[in-house]
Amino acid sequence: MRILAATRNAHKAEEIAEILRPLGVEVVRPEEQSGAPDVEETGDSFEANALLKARAAAAATGMTAFADDSGLEVDALGGEPGVLSARYAGPGASDAEKRALVLARLADVRRPEERTARFRCAAALASPDGWAMLFTGSVEGLITFEPRGEGGFGYDPIFFFPPFGKTFAEVPRERKNAVSHRGRAFRTLAQFLRAAGACLSAGEAGERR
Ligand code: IMP
Repeated sequence: MRILAATRNAHKAEEIAEILRPLGVEVVRPEEQSGAPDVEETGDSFEANALLKARAAAAATGMTAFADDSGLEVDALGGEPGVLSARYAGPGASDAEKRALVLARLADVRRPEERTARFRCAAALASPDGWAMLFTGSVEGLITFEPRGEGGFGYDPIFFFPPFGKTFAEVPRERKNAVSHRGRAFRTLAQFLRAAGACLSAGEAGERR
């Protein structure tokens, strides 16, 4: 089976490819597939954006397509940055500027237990004939008072994960991926494909009997 990963982010495409490879699923990048569209994230939820991108890619290419959307929700900010995570602090702002804005807006929230937050990810799978499925993952943590760690990207240096006692930027990538919102959503999608494959094989064996 071949699936188009409707993302221009090479790290995300590789992360899903690594998870699906053992199932015999080949992940194709948009650069390798003519007609793969660039879709604007105009939805008001992670789920809506993931579906929008996967459906558009499947319709335009005739392939089963995968897409995801993710971001940070901070409870004391009413769920912000949310779907605006990539664009928080305005177009073209750096990751450091986005982190600084979150910290500035939380300046009055001095108690660590009131700085709760989560990363969320929605991953969608869509086929050209119109069906689509959604898989979600999240991870709970606390926003630090200042950035910590050199690894990761985006909001990782200000996202403290209590079971590690560290921010996501202070642990190796594999350790973060094992618990991250994206890892959880991608692995649920892989479990679905594994189960669907097993059902299809059992059905074919039944027909042969
Ligand atoms: P998207 O899913 O590529 O649209 O991601 C939206 C934005 O959310 C990214 O640009 C990051 O700012 C933030 N984000 C999503 N996942 C993570 C993560 O694992 N660590 C840090 N920031 C993240």
